[in-house]
Amino acid sequence: MKIARRMASIQPFHVMALLARARELEASGRSIVHMEIGEPDFVTPQPVIDAGIRALSEGKTHYTPATGLPLLRERIAEFYLDRYGVKVAPGRIIVTPGASSGLQLALAALVNPGDKVLMADPGYPCNRNFVYLLNAEPAGIPVDATSGYQPTIEQVEQCWSQDVAALLLASPSNPTGTLLQAETIRQLFEYSQAQGAGLIVDEIYHGLTYGIAAETALAVSDELFVINSFSKYFGMTGWRLGWMVVPQDYVPEIDKLAQNLFLAAPTMAQYAALAAFGDESIAILEARRDEFRERRDFLLPALRELGFDIPVTPDGAFYLYAGCSRFSDDSYAFSNQLLEEAGVAITPGVDFGSNEPGRHVRFAYTTSLENLREGVRRLGEYLKA
Ligand SMILES: Cc1ncc(COP(=O)(O)O)c(C=O)c1O
Repeated sequence: MKIARRMASIQPFHVMALLARARELEASGRSIVHMEIGEPDFVTPQPVIDAGIRALSEGKTHYTPATGLPLLRERIAEFYLDRYGVKVAPGRIIVTPGASSGLQLALAALVNPGDKVLMADPGYPCNRNFVYLLNAEPAGIPVDATSGYQPTIEQVEQCWSQDVAALLLASPSNPTGTLLQAETIRQLFEYSQAQGAGLIVDEIYHGLTYGIAAETALAVSDELFVINSFSKYFGMTGWRLGWMVVPQDYVPEIDKLAQNLFLAAPTMAQYAALAAFGDESIAILEARRDEFRERRDFLLPALRELGFDIPVTPDGAFYLYAGCSRFSDDSYAFSNQLLEEAGVAITPGVDFGSNEPGRHVRFAYTTSLENLREGVRRLGEYLKA
């Protein structure tokens, strides 16, 4: 049996090897501070869990339509109106098994084999692999602190070629936590439109912004793809539920693809998510958002004090992307050393692309303030020695 050629391009998450080693060390009795994990440490809010259990007891165990429960699509449309003051027709909202599926559907509907998809480097690792799966080429835009780790119109113009089928943005970004300005989104939208290419904006970390309200790209136009999820702000990673908002003309295309690829998002999760927008859940989620902010406000100056280079204060997500060249130019070896010798797990830059990955690491503040304090203490001791 052969392994398909495309498999050679698809990379695993390097941090998984590190996580496995961390678990091994823990099993042998070592204490590890986890700052590598990209999901909230909080469990799903209780009203959402209760709604999921209720759905199961009521026998809601069959498929929903491929585009999602009509009631949930309406609830998401109301959310856009309440939160952003943006009117979105429920018919343009497609419920998906996580943002992961939304990204794949949008790319599959836009990209031909051999096309290019532009994206920020550093960026979310799976995006490159989604593109490889379509026998297309991811093309990184090397971004740095000078533009808040987000692509500018000048950079996009410079990286553009005729075979670019889509531009993929994320705001706030993983791994940098930085936001795109509404004006930049507008410029990038207008430019991609003029080139006949699609614009996809991943807003999965919306809701987790600190002291600043992120604007949705849907305020710019209806003719772009927005990806979102119940994973991060709503704390529902394991329920595998997200959504996308697509241009009207693409609804039948996405519907057709969703029917074929996964039939529907998990039914129980969709019923549970209806409760995620209730006042009780939102109050819990907002309090958690404030806790994330408190963690960021502790960790950021503490890491700078230790000698990590974090030139931009991230406005969102739960990550700090830090230069580590004062300690090492091999962030993979450095992350392994920190794990083995200091008992602190972080993610090496290599997972996020090829733009100076050896000189960067990502810290996730998805653990308690107490654990973060202990992590900083351990790092301080180790780095001083
Ligand atoms: C930027 C970004 N997009 C998409 C995803 C996928 O999330 P999910 O499929 O759980 O919604 C993640 C997960 O970490 C992410 O960081």
